[in-house]
Amino acid sequence: MLMEKNSVTVEVPINIALIKYWGKRDEELILPLNDSVSLTVDALFARTTVTVLKGASEHEVSVNGKLQDLTKSSRYSRLFAEALRQRRKRGHNESESNGSVGVHFKVTSETNFPTCAGLASSAAGFGAIALALQELFSFDDVEANRMARLGSGSACRSMLGGLVRWHAGESDDGLDSYATQLFDESEWPSLRSIVFVFDDMEKKVGSTLGMRRSVETSALLPHRALVVVPQRVEKLSKAFEERDFETLATVIMQDSNQFHAICLDSHPPLKYLSESSWDFMVMVQEFNDSMGAVLAAYTFDAGPNACVFLEKTSVANFIKFANERFCLPQKGLDEVREDYEIDEDLR
Ligand code: PMV
Repeated sequence: MLMEKNSVTVEVPINIALIKYWGKRDEELILPLNDSVSLTVDALFARTTVTVLKGASEHEVSVNGKLQDLTKSSRYSRLFAEALRQRRKRGHNESESNGSVGVHFKVTSETNFPTCAGLASSAAGFGAIALALQELFSFDDVEANRMARLGSGSACRSMLGGLVRWHAGESDDGLDSYATQLFDESEWPSLRSIVFVFDDMEKKVGSTLGMRRSVETSALLPHRALVVVPQRVEKLSKAFEERDFETLATVIMQDSNQFHAICLDSHPPLKYLSESSWDFMVMVQEFNDSMGAVLAAYTFDAGPNACVFLEKTSVANFIKFANERFCLPQKGLDEVREDYEIDEDLR
């Protein structure tokens, strides 16, 4: 038997959904109602170290220096239990010792962006834990991908780069629910994303509760899951393959709009967008109108913050336009100034 490593550090980026996952058919196994498609955004990531603790009595997780209360969420324990189960299947038995002492994990995770603000921080975090566990215990890619899903559904998409599709699957055991890469990021190297953070406060209704509410009360959700999403996945994949930005952008914005329409159709309604989000959507529309073409696409997850997709050649124009309406922070402008030839006098 090969010697296992004791500690592994990995970096896993966030992903932004272009076709959203919203609604589970099984909450315990985190099985979604519909397929979803995302782009992995390399610049925002979680750097995570997982260490195997032999003989400890509990797991320990800290995120950005804050110790997590593992009694409040079953996400970590579900993921760890599955990893240990898969490991046992490979002939490691010490975790089966009686009582609470066995193999446990210490996780230390740091993100380079605000967590809990609808910016897919949990996707990067749980994706990183699953990847580290894969490296520690040599799980295969699909096994590790399913583990990430048990922490946070969208995390399975973060384990791959480029354009990624999470297949909802049909089985009750979730064995056919995992993510695959549709296109490597090198397929469309000029594609860029810019994240605009309006508010980095934790959202009032988390995605688990929000999804449950939509599944229980939204009359629109079944139509979205069964009819709209399958068509959109095909349309978006084709647009990506043909580098048809206009179609890609239109599908992205329509899907963001529909996701938030489902939120409003839930009872009581879920409000993730703020006034700034609405002003931002109008601004993107005005930008596209002023350019006479669809050059930028917005999308919003379960929070007020925007992510914009555009081609590299549109970045300088878009930032100039956005700055006139929103007075962008100097720090953000400075970060992109050199790479995108943003005017020196833009303040
Ligand atoms: O994976 P979760 O539980 O954080 O849910 C993610 C839900 C959305 O971000 C709104 C959509 C998505 O597909 O990422």
